[in-house]
Amino acid sequence: MPANLPPHLKAALARLTEGVARSDITRRAEAISQTYRGGGGSATIRSENDALAYALARMPATYAAVSACIEAIAELDEVFAPASLLDVGAGPGTATWAAAQAIHSLQQFAMLDANAALRGIALDLARGDGRFKQLDYRQGDALVELSVAHEADLVVASYAIGEVADDRRAKLIDLMWRKTRDVLLVVEPGTPAGYNRIVDCRTQLIASGAHVIAPCPHRMPCPLAAPDWCHFTQRLARSRDHKQLKNAEVPFEDEKFSYVAVSRTPRGTHPAARVLAQPSMTKVEIKAKLCNRDGTASILAIPRRDKEAYATARRWRWGDAVQGIS
Ligand SMILES: C[S@@+](CC[C@H](N)C(=O)[O-])C[C@H]1O[C@@H](n2cnc3c(N)ncnc32)[C@H](O)[C@@H]1O
Repeated sequence: MPANLPPHLKAALARLTEGVARSDITRRAEAISQTYRGGGGSATIRSENDALAYALARMPATYAAVSACIEAIAELDEVFAPASLLDVGAGPGTATWAAAQAIHSLQQFAMLDANAALRGIALDLARGDGRFKQLDYRQGDALVELSVAHEADLVVASYAIGEVADDRRAKLIDLMWRKTRDVLLVVEPGTPAGYNRIVDCRTQLIASGAHVIAPCPHRMPCPLAAPDWCHFTQRLARSRDHKQLKNAEVPFEDEKFSYVAVSRTPRGTHPAARVLAQPSMTKVEIKAKLCNRDGTASILAIPRRDKEAYATARRWRWGDAVQGIS
């Protein structure tokens, strides 16, 4: 089940929406989404109402994606108990909220972002929430702010590295890694371009000595070849308001994302495989696309007559770590 925004965050968003014309928010959300679709970035978000439109339109999906990544890390990393978080390109604070909800050991929260309007809404949303007593949000360019930021046990960049110019991205990754005491999580849109940035980031981090926690069950080069790409998905129910805001017909949205999570120290044995698409099931077999611990990708067919393996594979879902394949 995808993670939903926690009630206190929904309530804070609702509070900010009071007295604001719905039509204005819808218009702004559409303009922002068009900018993103055209390859533009968050600089188009300039006012309080822009930031509110962005938060209402995008936070549910981004929150679900980041929550799924954190769940994947926690499943494989038994010692994962960060006390401090640094959220880079934090925007309205989506990843911070997702981390605060999922990781109870977190006590210190730091965010940084270049965008004043998004920083403003993040602080409005966090105000009065007991979890964020120790919250520091610096405004400025990540490449500048990171050089003076404190290290954190967990560093997250959610849907942010794609907004940094190609020739500055490696420097950004390097700075984020330097500030990581334990785990670094980078999440991008689940598009071929987002996936390619994750692959480059992963390659760079492995060369810097990082250990891959998820999603890859190995540290070898990604076995997928274009036009294939590694991505995962979260299906979220859409409220009536959200449907209206996004001008959408269907009562759900599929958020596709790519990610990599790495750590400073190795975390035990990798799982046997990761499920790379929703397995298909027929009367005779289950077919699952897997990324395997030996660095290969394969389609595994499990015949129904192999009762035990078939029963296990029936439970596999896109994105799952598979502990054993018989
Ligand atoms: C698509 S938003 C994602 C926001 C947030 N992480 C989330 O998941 O909802 C990208 C964010 O990266 C920030 N950003 C882009 N380039 C940046 C830079 N050079 N320095 C700091 N922040 C940057 C933008 O201002 C924006 O808030």
